Amino acid sequence: MGKINKSITELVGNTPLLELVNYEKQNDLDAELVIKVEYFNPNQSVKDRIALSMIEDAEKKGILKPGDTIVDTTSGNTGIGLAAIAAAKGYKFRVYIQPQVSEERFKVIHAFGGETIKLTEEPGLAKILKETNGDFVAAIKYLEEEIISKDPSVVFVNQIANPANPRIHLETTGPEIWEDTNGKVDIFVATVGTGGTITGVGEFLKSKNPDIKVVGVQPGPNSLPSDEVPVPEHEITGVHPFSADVPKNRIPATLNQNIYDEIITIEALDAYATAREVAKSDGILLGESSGAAINAATQLAKRPENKGKRIVAVTADTGLRYLSSGLFE
Ligand SMILES: Cc1ncc(COP(=O)(O)O)c(C=O)c1O
Repeated sequence: MGKINKSITELVGNTPLLELVNYEKQNDLDAELVIKVEYFNPNQSVKDRIALSMIEDAEKKGILKPGDTIVDTTSGNTGIGLAAIAAAKGYKFRVYIQPQVSEERFKVIHAFGGETIKLTEEPGLAKILKETNGDFVAAIKYLEEEIISKDPSVVFVNQIANPANPRIHLETTGPEIWEDTNGKVDIFVATVGTGGTITGVGEFLKSKNPDIKVVGVQPGPNSLPSDEVPVPEHEITGVHPFSADVPKNRIPATLNQNIYDEIITIEALDAYATAREVAKSDGILLGESSGAAINAATQLAKRPENKGKRIVAVTADTGLRYLSSGLFE
């Protein structure tokens, strides 16, 4: 039976699972470490799912009309997904982006005809970020009130508050993991940015089997901006802290704080080392947050109580997006 797709939107999702068998042996793991390889999405990251879901949700609600401009803020992958789907569906696209993200991301968004504005280039936003020491939620509030609400042809999809973000993981990513493992999952691991992935997948898996343990991964103190080091040398792109000490107003609405059983904290340099290791052991080139997720999954696999268990970790994007950042050097 043949199938010729007519739009990149038809290529989103249904990504494969891969057990890192060589890595397991090298690390003497007695648990199975399986990754969900999200770079198989058409624009090489998990964010294609929410890009499509948020755009189609706005179309269904009649908010998004032909000729409109889709806008979001992102560390890159959502921008790339939105830019591509906007191009395929005939919308304009503009993104407000963190200045330190890799050059590849800017170039790809421009290739799709999208416009990029660095957060530091918009004076009002730059001021808010400086005053709040990088509070993204405050920056978005400003963007919404001062820039976006003043132009009716602009549709702000706002990935950190849009229910269509976690919903698509509940409807697709979670069920795909369940089906491809025949329901045998013991622990699910995801890094947290907007929290959409962990929320949607976690809610789906726990609805099927409440005993499945859900583990969220956050960056360690050396990989975060601070008063002393406003831009740390090494970060985990797209991943933000969400533990109890993080102020409530900095937690995205898309994260269900009741869904995870544990938080594991990983420093950027350890995440990078793991990404380099799996590239060599299993021939798979993954990004920084994928390294963090696999590093956390490895720690779980080494615990005696997890012997023989299956751990599934989402690996969000491809290492090709970090060649200029030195991840593999
Ligand atoms: C590379 C990367 N990994 C992980 C995440 C986290 O995914 P989520 O936003 O679903 O929590 C993001 C989100 O921005 C990302 O860009």
